[in-house]
Amino acid sequence: MIVIRDLHKIYGRGSNTTHALKGINMEIREGEFVAIMGRSGSGKSTLLHILGLLDYPSSGEIYIEGIDVSRMSREQRGGFRLRRLGYVFQEYSLLGELSVLENVYLPSLAANPYQDYRQRATELLEMVGLGERLTHYPSEVSGGEQQRIAIARALVNSPGILFADEPTASLDVKSAMVVLNLFRRLNTERGQTVVMVTHEPGDERYVDRVIRLSDGRIDGDEG
Ligand SMILES: Nc1ncnc2c1ncn2[C@@H]1O[C@H](COP(=O)(O)OP(=O)(O)OP(=O)(O)O)[C@@H](O)[C@H]1O
Ligand SMILES: [Mg+2]
Repeated sequence: MIVIRDLHKIYGRGSNTTHALKGINMEIREGEFVAIMGRSGSGKSTLLHILGLLDYPSSGEIYIEGIDVSRMSREQRGGFRLRRLGYVFQEYSLLGELSVLENVYLPSLAANPYQDYRQRATELLEMVGLGERLTHYPSEVSGGEQQRIAIARALVNSPGILFADEPTASLDVKSAMVVLNLFRRLNTERGQTVVMVTHEPGDERYVDRVIRLSDGRIDGDEG
């Protein structure tokens, strides 16, 4: 569950400022699959970064799973982010010198150094249809496959919320469909909460709810 109240984000200072979020209020319940849509520059990535604790708001309140994250120290935020949140970005950002399997389980060591995630990573890679590619390297698989690896990596710590910022923007239509169906399945079959930013009008049919942003404000919430 995410609750945000009167959230503002102002970038820059002095005369050179951009008011990117202008008082956002919303709630996202556990188990929802939500798309955040809106034109370029409407504030989608800004909102997602703040919800995902990758950036700070200028003002407003944010509660994630009942915790007032705005009152957390930098260190507490880091730990919460690692253990409770997962991210998928437009650029898959895999590490080229690590194998597919290592890419998925090594980051989890930062959160839990004493647990062996290789088994879980293998299962997740099987789930995304890449069980045969564990020892390959990112450069040896397609863009769509790299994105599925990035999704497996985001899930390795069993995050309460999975955030995705334009996860299909770098993919061809067919790979994009595979990735969107994967999010859909994760949500339906595992109850995974997913918050996804997208540009593509057609993506609406995969999600339960669409929150529309326009110039830093919510101007639609359907579903
Ligand atoms: N780091 C930054 N410094 C200054 N201004 C920023 C910064 N990041 C974003 N902005 C501005 O804030 C506004 C919202 O940007 P944001 O990236 O959230 O939009 P978006 O909806 O994700 O757009 P896109 O669809 O192009 O990714 C824009 O006017 C943008 O120029
Ligand atoms: Mg963006």
